Amino acid sequence: MSSTTAPSVPAPVPAPLDPPVPVLAAPMAGGPSTPELAAAVIRAGGGAFLAGGMRSAAQVREQVDGLRALLATPEEAGRFGVNLFVPDAVNTAVAASARGGAARIARAQAVASYRERLAPLAADLGAELPSVLTVTPDPDAERAAFEDMLAAAEEQSWPAVSFTFGLPAPDVFARLAAAGIPAGVTVTSPAEAMAAVASGARFLVVQGPKAGGHRATLDPQARPGITDLRTLVFAVRHALGPAAVPLVAAGGITDGAQVRPLLEAGAVAVAAGTAFLLTPEAGTSAAHRTALRQASAGVAFAHPDDGAASTALTRAYTGRWARGLVTPFMDEHHDAPAAYPEVNGLTGPLRRAAAEDGDLEHVHLWAGTGAHRVEEVGAAQVLASLAPRAEP
Ligand SMILES: Cc1cc2nc3c(=O)[nH]c(=O)nc-3n(C[C@H](O)[C@H](O)[C@H](O)COP(=O)(O)O)c2cc1C
Repeated sequence: MSSTTAPSVPAPVPAPLDPPVPVLAAPMAGGPSTPELAAAVIRAGGGAFLAGGMRSAAQVREQVDGLRALLATPEEAGRFGVNLFVPDAVNTAVAASARGGAARIARAQAVASYRERLAPLAADLGAELPSVLTVTPDPDAERAAFEDMLAAAEEQSWPAVSFTFGLPAPDVFARLAAAGIPAGVTVTSPAEAMAAVASGARFLVVQGPKAGGHRATLDPQARPGITDLRTLVFAVRHALGPAAVPLVAAGGITDGAQVRPLLEAGAVAVAAGTAFLLTPEAGTSAAHRTALRQASAGVAFAHPDDGAASTALTRAYTGRWARGLVTPFMDEHHDAPAAYPEVNGLTGPLRRAAAEDGDLEHVHLWAGTGAHRVEEVGAAQVLASLAPRAEP
């Protein structure tokens, strides 16, 4: 039968993407995602992703065990996934020419000059800046750490894996599929969606421009797109055609009235991050909570005209585009180099020192454009507020 006449068989929806309430707690590395948050959302009828980014495989294994211990039934225990960062060394979307030779030298120089610019601030904050060498990743170590994560997924039989920050090779998807683990990718454009599905992605998280935290462009050098989330979901579905896989829509969702149009556009579920940041179950830091409270009260990090949260994309903190509440540090370093994870490593001690001092001007405060609507209530209540409902 030719491909034009073959009936399109809908791809199966992995259990974590198919909860009774079609809303997932999005993965949030750096503290906010906890087993307690994931469990509360799952027990309330949603799905959840744990965050494997910036953690060792041993730490992720602990999180998975911790979450499983909090879930009562096999059905609940099937409704989570683990999100993994794709390091440059295993990212097929980064051309080898962008990694070696002149590109590598230019990048190290850019990191070194950013380090020099940060030195006075580090001295003010009493933080020690690491050397460029210390923060430059070793590709062999990146490959080994990634392999440890895949082994953990297999050994602990994770119900799903989602990748972000890049596209692993097809054999990674095949290997996980052979272990019964559906693996997906977060994408930001139709072209990325097609590349991910061609590599074996069994689902996609379509991340729109309002999303908090890092933008998930497969190529870390790429400037993320600005197409609104609903249009993006449509465009991805259209681009995939008969090769469609289940889509999760994420970015700027803080209210159930926003969800139905995304489901109608073709998503099987939505994912929210920022909306859960002030829940007691989240591991959000004290500094981050303070800033979000100020944003939701409209007393800081707010547009003077309408009180909406003032957020922007920045590379200043990590070297990769991410959306956060606007800080003076972001303004001052709007031209920071595209060098993740080096910049993340450089600014880490500085951000920690600032956070300890309660200095919100130099801390990364990841949040989506809906940050002013975040409420300080339990995760189950946030999930209930995100359940799809008709526009008021
Ligand atoms: C604090 C924070 C940390 C995040 N960390 C991750 C991460 O580790 N992996 C990932 O794929 N996305 C991460 N994201 C993005 C979310 O998974 C999701 O795409 C985003 O929160 C959706 O937009 P919203 O915050 O407006 O709901 C993070 C977002 C935030 C706010």
